[in-house]
Amino acid sequence: MSVKISIKTFGCQMNVRDSEVVLGLLKNAGYIITDDSKKADIVLFNTCSVRQHAEDRVWSEIGTFKDTDKIVGLIGCMAQEHKEKAFERMENIDLVVGPSDIEKIPAIIKKVLEHREKNKSKDLFEYKIWETDGEKRPDEIYHSGFYEDKNHAYVVISEGCSNYCSYCVVPYVRGELKNRKHEDVINEIKEAIKKGITKITLLGQNVNAYKDKNVDFVELLTQINAIKGLDELSFFTSHPKDTSVKLFEAMRDLEKVKKHLHLPIQSGSDRVLKLMNRNYNRNFYLDLVDKYRKIVKGGILSTDIIVGFPAESEEDFKDTFDLAEKVKFNSAYIFKYSPRAYTEAAKFADSISKEEKEKRHAAILDLQRKISKQLKK
Ligand code: SAH
Ligand code: SF4
Ligand code: F3S
Repeated sequence: MSVKISIKTFGCQMNVRDSEVVLGLLKNAGYIITDDSKKADIVLFNTCSVRQHAEDRVWSEIGTFKDTDKIVGLIGCMAQEHKEKAFERMENIDLVVGPSDIEKIPAIIKKVLEHREKNKSKDLFEYKIWETDGEKRPDEIYHSGFYEDKNHAYVVISEGCSNYCSYCVVPYVRGELKNRKHEDVINEIKEAIKKGITKITLLGQNVNAYKDKNVDFVELLTQINAIKGLDELSFFTSHPKDTSVKLFEAMRDLEKVKKHLHLPIQSGSDRVLKLMNRNYNRNFYLDLVDKYRKIVKGGILSTDIIVGFPAESEEDFKDTFDLAEKVKFNSAYIFKYSPRAYTEAAKFADSISKEEKEKRHAAILDLQRKISKQLKK
């Protein structure tokens, strides 16, 4: 068999790791992996639903494969969001597989290929497969041993999210928070180290909410820090409501843990934070940052900010601007609010005009650029 497969990855690091997992499974099933989608027989799109812009890019890229006879697969968050409706949207999609069904991808591809072989022409008989009902991934998928990088690996510690921030689609496309067993995580890391990996980044939508039996996130960090052969350990994302002094002390005391905290604030206005269902307020956040800086000397701090949330007033925006000015993040990702299917905020009017969102986005971006530059000096 010499079927070539390529994956195009969109979205967050979770997707980067998922693509690697899928490639590992496909490699072990005998497929040839290529970076060049033009040369591939099968092109998979591992997708993100977090903002409309991310989705638009995927639909248009899939469109560019319309006049080819390649097998096209939609996997990841957009697959879960659109399910079989994706076939109506883009006729050239052959398979749709959600994030909790990725272990089935090799078997699904085999079926599609067999069908093609029997029917020769795709036009003769439409054949579409979708899988979006999975609940939990089998742990084996994380052990294929395939890593894109020579010495760094991402390790998923939890899947999904149960926070339901009012603007966010993640809980709907990734499901509720599911923690991996700490023994499985530790084993995966030990296996990776045997393959030459020396740096690990732990991934989860809210790593601080990690809990498996009596092992919480700080205990997990402590156990991983003790693994021989590991040089560097980092993690994200941290949700302020679950981030504690205990974590900062661990960051200070565990020698392999990188002193970098990604702590999304989203908004500096208490009114907006409440509407966002973030479960903390501005003062709580500022106090947390203060403690972080006192305990983790010289620690890096980064954040995510959303501008133009429904009914975000000038005053609310000023609060965010003022917070960014006060805190002086080393770096910040700044996003324009985008209404998402299923979410609570989608029920509010998307009342801030495109121009106004653009203006607020540019203002914070400009401020942040100056701060980042200053801090680098
Ligand atoms: N679990 C992480 C973030 C996952 S999504 C956390 O809670 O921090 C990454 C970032 O995308 C979020 O932090 C948020 O800033 C942004 N985002 C999520 N939904 C959005 C939306 N509907 N519109 C604009 N930005 C959004
Ligand atoms: Fe989305 Fe909030 Fe969960 Fe992050 S914590 S993934 S923003 S629901
Ligand atoms: Fe996007 Fe899914 Fe990650 S929606 S941000 S790829 S979890």
